[in-house]
Amino acid sequence: MNIVLLGPPGSGKGTQAKMIADKYGVVHISTGDILRENVRNNTPLGVEAKKYMEAGKLVPDSLLIDIIKDRLAKDDVKGGWMLDGYPRTIPQAEAMDEILPALGQKIDVVLNIDVPDEELIKRVTGRRMCKCGATYHVQFNPPKEPGKCDACGGELYQRADDTEETVKERLQAYHAQTQPLIDYYDKRGIVVTVLGVGDIKEIFGKISEALDKI
Ligand code: AP5
Ligand code: MG
Repeated sequence: MNIVLLGPPGSGKGTQAKMIADKYGVVHISTGDILRENVRNNTPLGVEAKKYMEAGKLVPDSLLIDIIKDRLAKDDVKGGWMLDGYPRTIPQAEAMDEILPALGQKIDVVLNIDVPDEELIKRVTGRRMCKCGATYHVQFNPPKEPGKCDACGGELYQRADDTEETVKERLQAYHAQTQPLIDYYDKRGIVVTVLGVGDIKEIFGKISEALDKI
């Protein structure tokens, strides 16, 4: 099964993606994680992407299209993938429409996680990350010991783009450039929308119900 996850910043894409990957055996591909790793390693891509990410703006399409083209051609994704954070613009979706047939692949479902903006700002500014990939929230999903990862004991940190000011920019970018993709894919009848408000496990239950039908 090949899944595209759509949803605004803080809607729970990363949180749900981990559970979906475990249950359905699909490979989780987060373009945000790929870009952040490049920023950490100071690669040419990272140096270019950093200025956009820290301003809450989208990184240019051409860079993302190259990333995804390479990633989807690798052998480990042949059994199914889940894209978290791509496509994010119409040109990125159009590029997918060219890349996928050439690889003998298609999108089976676009899972749209819907959360109102007011809730998103609280979620993103309270998020804490661990370098092992685990994600927490100081209030909604706290670790057992403040500042420490339950999974590996690592020290938790905040993402550079998780300030209130940057989140507002990211939300604007989402509404202007990413939200139109819901219509783009709805015309193909492959969009499933799940309300992403409430208990994390209950939301996963609704997602599982939808995915089990595919
Ligand atoms: P990216 O990393 O993709 O960030 P994003 O889309 O802004 O989404 P987030 O990762 O912030 O949120 P999420 O939905 O994963 O939520 P999470 O599960 O962590 O992109 C970052 C940047 O990279 C972009 O701004 C852009 O610059 C660039 N980029 C990436 N892809 C690109 C592309 N294709 N094109 C161009 N540029 C690109 O949850 C958030 C918090 O809420 C956590 O603390 C969590 O514990 C908590 N939480 C989760 N679920 C719930 C719940 N049900 N109730 C309460 N709290 C909850
Ligand atoms: Mg994420």
